[in-house]
Amino acid sequence: MTVTAADRFAKIRAATNGHRAEHGCNAYPYDNGPLLAALAGAVSARRILELGTALGYTALSFASGAPDATVDTIDRDPEHVRIARDNIATAAMDHRITVHEGDFAAVLPTLDPGYDIAFFDGGTPVASLHKTLRGLLRTGGTLITANLNHGGTADTVRKALFDGKAWRSAVVDEDGETAISVKL
Ligand SMILES: C[S@@+](CC[C@H](N)C(=O)[O-])C[C@H]1O[C@@H](n2cnc3c(N)ncnc32)[C@H](O)[C@@H]1O
Repeated sequence: MTVTAADRFAKIRAATNGHRAEHGCNAYPYDNGPLLAALAGAVSARRILELGTALGYTALSFASGAPDATVDTIDRDPEHVRIARDNIATAAMDHRITVHEGDFAAVLPTLDPGYDIAFFDGGTPVASLHKTLRGLLRTGGTLITANLNHGGTADTVRKALFDGKAWRSAVVDEDGETAISVKL
C-alpha cells in the first residue's frame, strides 16, 4: 500500500505549474513539500535558508514543519517575489518568512551564518554557491540539494557532496535528483 502525505500547500504547487506555463519561466515546484516539512521538524530547525522561492511553495512547507523557525528565501524574479509574498501573507506566515529579492550571489553575503537547514532549488547547482551555503550552515546542519541530475556544474557539486570529506550525504530519490547532506 502506498501512503502519501497530505500536502497542505498543494494548491500553491499547482498554481506554480500554471504560472510557469503563462510566464515562460523556470518555476518548477519541488515535488515533495511534505518531505521538507518533515525534515525541518526532525531537526527542530530554528533558521532555514532557501535558494529559489518561486511562488513560495517550499518556503511555506519548511515553515509549516518547524513552527519555531524563520525562513530566508531568495529569488531574483520580481513577479515571483510579489506572488510569493502574497501567498505567504495569505497563509499568515509573513512574520516568519522573509523573501529577499535579488540574485543569490548578491543576497547570500548579506545573511548571518548559523542556519540549521539550507535548500538549493535555484536551477542547476554550482560549486561557488554551494561553498557559500556551506559557510552559512552550522556544523551538523542539513543541506538539501535539488537538481543534482542536471549534469554540467551539478556533477562537480555531487562529487563534493559524496567524497566523504566535508559532508555525509544520501540520495533521496531513484533518479538522483535530490541529496540530503550533513555538514561535517
Ligand atoms: C525551481 S524554481 C524554485 C521552486 C520553489 N523552490 C518551489 O518548489 O516552488 C527556481 C527559482 O530560482 C530563481 N532563480 C534562479 N536562478 C537564480 C539566481 N541566480 N538568483 C536568484 N534567483 C534565481 C528563479 O527565478 C525561480 O523562481
